[in-house]
Amino acid sequence: MRHFIIDTDTASDDAVALVMAMKHPDVQIEAITLVGGNVGIEQGLQNALYTVELCGESIPVYRGLAQPMLRPLQMAQHVHGVDGMGDIGLPLSGRTPAEGHAVPVLIDTINKFAGNITLVTLAPLTNVALALLQDPSLASKVTECIVMGGIGQGYGNITPAAEFNIWVDPEAAKIVFESGIPITMVGWDISRTYATLNQADAAQLSQVSDLGKFCMDIQKTVMEFALERTKLDGFDLPDPIAMAVALDRSVITVSKKLYVDVEIHSELCRGQTVVDHLSATGKTANVEVVLEASRERFMEMLYDAVK
Ligand code: BDR
Ligand code: CA
Repeated sequence: MRHFIIDTDTASDDAVALVMAMKHPDVQIEAITLVGGNVGIEQGLQNALYTVELCGESIPVYRGLAQPMLRPLQMAQHVHGVDGMGDIGLPLSGRTPAEGHAVPVLIDTINKFAGNITLVTLAPLTNVALALLQDPSLASKVTECIVMGGIGQGYGNITPAAEFNIWVDPEAAKIVFESGIPITMVGWDISRTYATLNQADAAQLSQVSDLGKFCMDIQKTVMEFALERTKLDGFDLPDPIAMAVALDRSVITVSKKLYVDVEIHSELCRGQTVVDHLSATGKTANVEVVLEASRERFMEMLYDAVK
């Protein structure tokens, strides 16, 4: 059995990633930790608690940091909806998170399962950075840290240079990327290229089960945003493809260990993941960067999760 911790700013694509992990037979999720990101922390908690309950699970969901380390929180409700779950009228209130705070929970859980603990980050890296600052030894205890964030090759979704999760809290991302934790980075380019679903794909998945329908219904505002703004043939699922990598690395078809730094000073390039593809800096590679993935395998895993 593999042990997982999932750090999330639960909105529509995070919820699908949670479903994939909860439905995977070989994975035990020890904790779900929330951070401010797509939506405010209280809404994110409710969204995660609802999703856990829907899957019939009782995994503890912990409140973490509401704000980035140094900057005001900028959310993505224009993408995921005011409630983060597509504004389809789900009853997203009244559930109670577990007692305790995400940062000590990260520290204690990683220490407890040292050597067999996968950390999956689907959100700004605020909680993870603080845990690493408090206990730097965590970096060598985590088996792997799958990061949905940044861009391996190409352009961003929040600015031309940056992907949302890294852009929201670039200082936290820099701390995590420099910590020595074994990162596999699944950037936005990977979801845009290999995890995009069009209306027909969504309709088909909705027919598989109630859970399939839930996973697609909550993409309502993302679908509208994607068609209008990202000009994709459908909408992308960044957190689910990162979760697919965490669950089964065979979804990766090409990856490379490269040096990656995070831009924190520039206004224009805030949160850019600067990937040294040609070893121009001479610095030691610190991140396994996913460069290509299998859409077929990803779709298979999505279907397996909801069937
Ligand atoms: C990431 O940002 C959020 O909007 C999504 O949940 C995902 O984690 C994609 O850039
Ligand atoms: Ca997310």
